[in-house]
Amino acid sequence: MRIVVLVSGTGSNLQAVIDAVAAGELPMEIAAVGADRPGTFGIERSAAAGLETFVVNFKDFAARADWDAALLDAVAAYKPDYVLSSGFMRIVAPGFIDAFAGRYVNTHPALLPAFPGAHGVRDALAYGVKVTGCTVHFADAGVDTGPIIAQTPVAVLDGDTEETLHERIKVAERELLVKVLGDLARA
Ligand code: GAR
Repeated sequence: MRIVVLVSGTGSNLQAVIDAVAAGELPMEIAAVGADRPGTFGIERSAAAGLETFVVNFKDFAARADWDAALLDAVAAYKPDYVLSSGFMRIVAPGFIDAFAGRYVNTHPALLPAFPGAHGVRDALAYGVKVTGCTVHFADAGVDTGPIIAQTPVAVLDGDTEETLHERIKVAERELLVKVLGDLARA
């Protein structure tokens, strides 16, 4: 199984996948890691791990459709079996979803369909839920929508801040992500 991973930020969840592959715990190959902007730690750590990287900088494109086409071209060039959105903070175009139908996997730091979007942890905390968690799902053209593959609940503790809660969710998220990828790779 070959995957392309898309990131926008630090890529700490991606690091768990890199480590699991390196440890022989995940029978798959990370064909490349791509980002929507330059200078992300996700790309830096991928390059440090010897992975191929690419950037399709959203700001380099005057028209959104041109960025969509460039992202699709860049990803498709690696002929991945699956594409993983690991903290990739862009909605992809319907054409991208069509090209990777049932093969575009996203991870989100809340129990979807609750608290989708860029601030899933902050929104859950603001609502006052006592349990939140993480979701790995097949992404469609919506915001954190599409069939759910697996979820892990995480308790909200008294005194949690967005940062402390997100860090605890990420611990669960990394484990869940590696498990789901392993299941897909062995299917
Ligand atoms: C992760 O918690 C991921 O679920 C979230 O961004 C974080 C990326 O962390 N994604 C979303 O919120 C998507 N709506 P990382 O860059 O350290 O792996």
